[in-house]
Amino acid sequence: MEVIISKDAPSSSTLAAAHIARVIREKPDAVLGLATGSTPLPLYKELIRLHREEGLDFSNVRTFNLDEYLGLAPEHPASYHHFMWENFFSRVNIQATQVHIPSGLISGPEVPAYCSRYEEEIRSAGGIDVQILGIGSDGHIGFNEPGSSLASRTRIKTLTQRTRADNARFFSSENEVPHHVITMGIGTIMDARRVLLLAFGAGKAEAVSGAVEGPVTASNPASILQLHPEAKSFLDEEAASGLKRRDYYRWVFEKKPSWQRDL
Ligand code: F6R
Repeated sequence: MEVIISKDAPSSSTLAAAHIARVIREKPDAVLGLATGSTPLPLYKELIRLHREEGLDFSNVRTFNLDEYLGLAPEHPASYHHFMWENFFSRVNIQATQVHIPSGLISGPEVPAYCSRYEEEIRSAGGIDVQILGIGSDGHIGFNEPGSSLASRTRIKTLTQRTRADNARFFSSENEVPHHVITMGIGTIMDARRVLLLAFGAGKAEAVSGAVEGPVTASNPASILQLHPEAKSFLDEEAASGLKRRDYYRWVFEKKPSWQRDL
């Protein structure tokens, strides 16, 4: 996994956005896998700026979100539908018909068939070109909590109490955080052609060091990215602070041959 350390979240997000913009310019109908939460906010802000000021065109871009809380209607202020429209989709020229977010209103025995259809939709779009990921303080990617099968596909998951507590800030109280979600699986994420993991702040340092330098293990789901051929992690100084080889990663980035800079 390539590790790119920047001084802060905005500069890290600018690099990640430049990568995504290149992909969209080369393939205008690129398929993006998208994440929610605090981490990708500066990335979405920069993509919106690139759209407004540099003409980055989303009109043919297709998107698939990683996850959604079960039990929340799209208009619920803490739903990921609401988050995506509020923070990104309504600010670029994407077509609503090209946006895919798992439904929070599926219930009971309909869930497995719904999840299989989500997988099928990703396949028929030609697969995900770039997957954006945050990381949970416990190493989760999507909502694949520690112990998730490294080969898992889109399905229902039960959140850990730690994740419910971490995400309580988006709700009026921790009690309101749903227990269940639909999430792309780790196998679904690994099928993406490129993966960009973003992590900012000291609260992510332990999860990041396990993911980047620890063993590949279901106990830190993000560690599977060590087996992905095109995974990059964009970290700020704090999130990188637990990495033993951080000076080497900085050195590699500084010494990158110019022809490799844009890849
Ligand atoms: C969100 C998602 C999660 C978050 C992770 C970090 O769609 O899939 O894995 O990326 O929980 O959340 P933040 O960025 O809020 O710290």
